[in-house]
Amino acid sequence: MLTHAAKLSDWITGIRRELHQHPELMYEEVKTSAVVRRTLDELGISYKSPMAVTGVVATLGDGKGPCVALRADMDALPIHEEADVAFRSKIDGKMHACGHDCHTAMLLGAARLLKERESEIHGTIKFIFQPAEEGGAGGDRMCAEGALNNPDVQRIFGIHVWPYLPMGAVGSRPGVFLAAAGEIEITVTGKGGHAALPHTTLDPVSTAAKIICELQTIVSREIDPLEPAVISITTVHGGEAFNVIPQSVRMTGTIRSLTMDGLRFLQERARDVATHVAKANRCEAAVGFPGHDYPPVLNDATCWNSAREMAGEMLGTNAVVELPPVMGGEDFAFYTQRVPGVFVVLGVKQDGDGPVYGVHHPLFTANEKALPVGAALHASYAMRSLEELR
Ligand code: NI
Repeated sequence: MLTHAAKLSDWITGIRRELHQHPELMYEEVKTSAVVRRTLDELGISYKSPMAVTGVVATLGDGKGPCVALRADMDALPIHEEADVAFRSKIDGKMHACGHDCHTAMLLGAARLLKERESEIHGTIKFIFQPAEEGGAGGDRMCAEGALNNPDVQRIFGIHVWPYLPMGAVGSRPGVFLAAAGEIEITVTGKGGHAALPHTTLDPVSTAAKIICELQTIVSREIDPLEPAVISITTVHGGEAFNVIPQSVRMTGTIRSLTMDGLRFLQERARDVATHVAKANRCEAAVGFPGHDYPPVLNDATCWNSAREMAGEMLGTNAVVELPPVMGGEDFAFYTQRVPGVFVVLGVKQDGDGPVYGVHHPLFTANEKALPVGAALHASYAMRSLEELR
């Protein structure tokens, strides 16, 4: 499969670069979705669209069971690209900084590989191109709109490019791989006034500072040190002038755990702490958890073993590594909530000893030599799983 994929390298890379130049944010993946559909049309592969606004589900095989799904996400991030590449983003303030352009191109590569051996497919392979991975819970919406039904998906596989691993290495683990994650928003309201007369105000700035500090002790004093947990306040907005105490301060941040129970506990305690610290300082705190809480990505042990063996045969056992869990969130979790599956990361580190820029960084780049590898992994996993499930 890898030899076959290598021959498609230029084709896959071309698609990736086209997508990279035209990044689109969540639920706005109109052109991206059109590229996916155009490519599927060229390949003669049928699909259902739109699903979840811009999503596409393509199908290959005899339309019966067993059924395996392969998934890619299509959305970009509101980041201004600074990477020095010839195919740099043409849209100011938007960038494929999480490699979802690579994911979409690799899955189209797999579709072409599998189309070329369609007669060998006994069962159904679904190709899920979803919108809004970056906080919009596009995967949840695809599931709600039936991406996993008719025929019912029995296994699902997904890949994320990973700049921290050498090009072509594959990593994952059985059980929880990525964290449950959600957003927190805290608005501290007091009473504004002249900064020279603090006693006539109720100061939301000093109160917000106390809340930020106090939130740190939830993780350090209330959680088992061997249990991963994160509370990070990442934005603080309040005040306009150096000599005015503002009326309110707004903060946002993220809360993460490896379990939904853990996430709920942290949310509850963050609410309690913020509300009570505010009250002790004669202010009020309104605490909310806007957006979509992502469940943890739970890898099925059988699916991971199968993926590990498959990748080992393709790339050599040294190229396959079992990784510790990562506190990043991923909406692939919405699929693994419903069907067994495995999410793996694929090394896209550049050759040489240059600096590594992580995903969501304006200088992030991916080693494109990994693109045919990703396509081959997708295709092999599907064929192998159909055999295992028969
Ligand atoms: Ni991503």
